[in-house]
Amino acid sequence: MSTKSPRDAAEFIRSRFSEPISTAVVLGSGLGAFADEIEDAVRIPYEEIPGFARSTVEGHAGQLVLGKAAGVNVAVQQGRFHFYEGYEMEQVIFPTRTFASLGAKNLILTNAAGSLNTDLRPGSLMVITDHLNCMGVNPLRGKNDDSFGPRFPDMTEIYDRGFQQIVEDEAAAIAANGAAFSLGRGVYCALSGPTYETPAEIRMYRLLGADAVGMSTVPEAIAARHAGLRVLGISCITNLGAGLSGEIIHHAEVMETGERVKGVFKELLSRVIGRIGN
Ligand code: HPA
Repeated sequence: MSTKSPRDAAEFIRSRFSEPISTAVVLGSGLGAFADEIEDAVRIPYEEIPGFARSTVEGHAGQLVLGKAAGVNVAVQQGRFHFYEGYEMEQVIFPTRTFASLGAKNLILTNAAGSLNTDLRPGSLMVITDHLNCMGVNPLRGKNDDSFGPRFPDMTEIYDRGFQQIVEDEAAAIAANGAAFSLGRGVYCALSGPTYETPAEIRMYRLLGADAVGMSTVPEAIAARHAGLRVLGISCITNLGAGLSGEIIHHAEVMETGERVKGVFKELLSRVIGRIGN
């Protein structure tokens, strides 16, 4: 494991992009296209950033993009580190803590997810209201770094209510302009992966109160909230959970649905960033 800290990473990033960053964005599987629209972009491959691991999964570019979206300075993680790739949780949340060290106040987390709720069809978006951490591990396990946050952080309102409202308002505005898409809200359940679930597991998670399942987001949300950031989570529903559609689940299908919604997803993200502002 690297001996570099998120503060070292932040210092390096500042040497390449000196403007203040208040909002950071993490782009999920198949949703990386938003990063191509950042203006005056400085792109830094993860391997150049002290302490960062490398992203290995298909559909993740593995670079940090700094620049402007909707006139707001942003740091965009194009590709994330997943627990299922074999990274330690410390590596998974290293970029999140780097954003905190850069002075970011807001974190927007996006992902691809399977739906357990028949109102959330593939191709729709879901604003995350709460989560179930079923990864079997908490990213804050171990010695607490008091400089980031307290030993026992509260998680009552991990996903900021004001941000959820902004997403709903902006989605309504996009729909009013004639775009055909639907936005729902619900509980995201994070699993370690890399297998998709069995139908029995999907039934269990549904009983537990989950609306969508995925393999990311929760570690970063916990680390961000620990460090006092306001968190927004948006899932792109790419498929129905195992056993709900009669079809088997392919990674290709997950990527294709991301591709299909990317126009509306990019527009929503940039409107939301514009509203959150500097
Ligand atoms: N399960 C877990 N993770 C996922 C899924 C799913 O059905 N779809 C996209 N990511």
